Amino acid sequence: MNVLLLGSGGREHALAWKLARSPSLGTLYAAPGNPGIARHARLVALDAADHVAVVGFARDHGVGLVVIGPEAPLVDGLADSLRAADIPVFGPSAGAAQLEGSKGFTKDLCARAGIPTAGYLRVRTRAEADAALATTFSLPVVIKADGLAAGKGVTIAYTPTEAAAALDILFDGPGEAVIEEFLDGEEASLFVLTDGTATMPFGSAQDHKRVGEGDTGPNTGGMGAYSPARVLTPELQARALAEIVEPTLAAMRDAGTPFSGVLYAGLMLTPAGPKLIEYNARYGDPEAQAVLPRFDGDLLVVMLATAEGRLGELPPARFIPETALTVVVAARGYPATPVTGGRIDGIERAEATGALVFHAGTSAEGEALVASGGRVLAITTLGDGAAQAQAQAYRAVDAIDFPGGFHRRDIGWREVARERGQVGGRLS
Ligand code: AMP
Ligand code: GLY
Repeated sequence: MNVLLLGSGGREHALAWKLARSPSLGTLYAAPGNPGIARHARLVALDAADHVAVVGFARDHGVGLVVIGPEAPLVDGLADSLRAADIPVFGPSAGAAQLEGSKGFTKDLCARAGIPTAGYLRVRTRAEADAALATTFSLPVVIKADGLAAGKGVTIAYTPTEAAAALDILFDGPGEAVIEEFLDGEEASLFVLTDGTATMPFGSAQDHKRVGEGDTGPNTGGMGAYSPARVLTPELQARALAEIVEPTLAAMRDAGTPFSGVLYAGLMLTPAGPKLIEYNARYGDPEAQAVLPRFDGDLLVVMLATAEGRLGELPPARFIPETALTVVVAARGYPATPVTGGRIDGIERAEATGALVFHAGTSAEGEALVASGGRVLAITTLGDGAAQAQAQAYRAVDAIDFPGGFHRRDIGWREVARERGQVGGRLS
């Protein structure tokens, strides 16, 4: 079967790498892809915003499944356009992608369905926001832009000055925001494949959102991740599925917008049980680079069954017991203003250590490989536990020669400490 994969980051490289191992794959096309994806796929110049062109390409090339990697084309309704043309697609409709596209939509759904999440208020003006802060919330308080913000739309304000600064930015023009109660606990991400009705838990992970070691500094898209999230015990996962994921999927069905694809539940594990922080309507990046190498199955088979509403016919997904750990190498200046164009060498040396080197933001310049994005590479290793995976990951990272880049040296620190029996600090 021919497959078209949309996207150009490390998540899509991991998807391409795993899809390429499927015995039933014919030709894998990727648009726009990147030099790493090009090792597994034929790259095509297609703009995901041009639905007519994507549908036309899929028809002309006998594509039996379109896989949409990033959130923007989902929120933009690309999956709807493909379904209208009877082309199977892995990814939710625009209506269902609202679970990621609008924080207010998701909070209202949680309120209606009794799903555990932080208390909140939706505000549409600065005056409403100021009133909410004065009357309803104590510090710290969480202030979020309503729409997609590439991981940068959330402020945890510890002082009135920080809250005011966040609101100044949000209500600089017309805006909509969600103000939330601060939840304390450890975060974990749970991935669930669903065709709208049937569900298939698809692994867990923890990521490091902050740019600096010790989980400090500004939020990023993610500087590293590991899978599984052992803190999400089988009991807690069962609770999250029963109390959060299943009622959400039921509410989406009832609303006439069933969710099909992979639902990424960002959870806070509080003393009162798991609470929903947010949903994403797609795989995480870099979580996919940690989860997919552990999946012991045929990705094309489960994605097609998801797309065609046959997920319930398949056995549960199996994962190898090893820990996968992913370190992101970013361009200097990320997340504010990454310096692109820096030359990258040593990828073969890193791969020779046994690591998987996923390209996130690279481009080819003649024979050379250069950085073209904020997050440039995502390097994954498997180990018997996090400490071993971490040691191997840094051996591979150290084989990379990229003077214009940087990375965190402490990815997985909390899990490594847990293995050593010395849990401390908070993972943010
Ligand atoms: P989000 O984009 O909603 O995932 O938020 C980004 C990050 O902000 C989350 O991963 C959490 O680390 C943090 N965060 C969001 N909402 C809350 C909350 N209500 N309480 C504590 N931390 C939060
Ligand atoms: N790593 C977080 C995300 O993919 O949204």
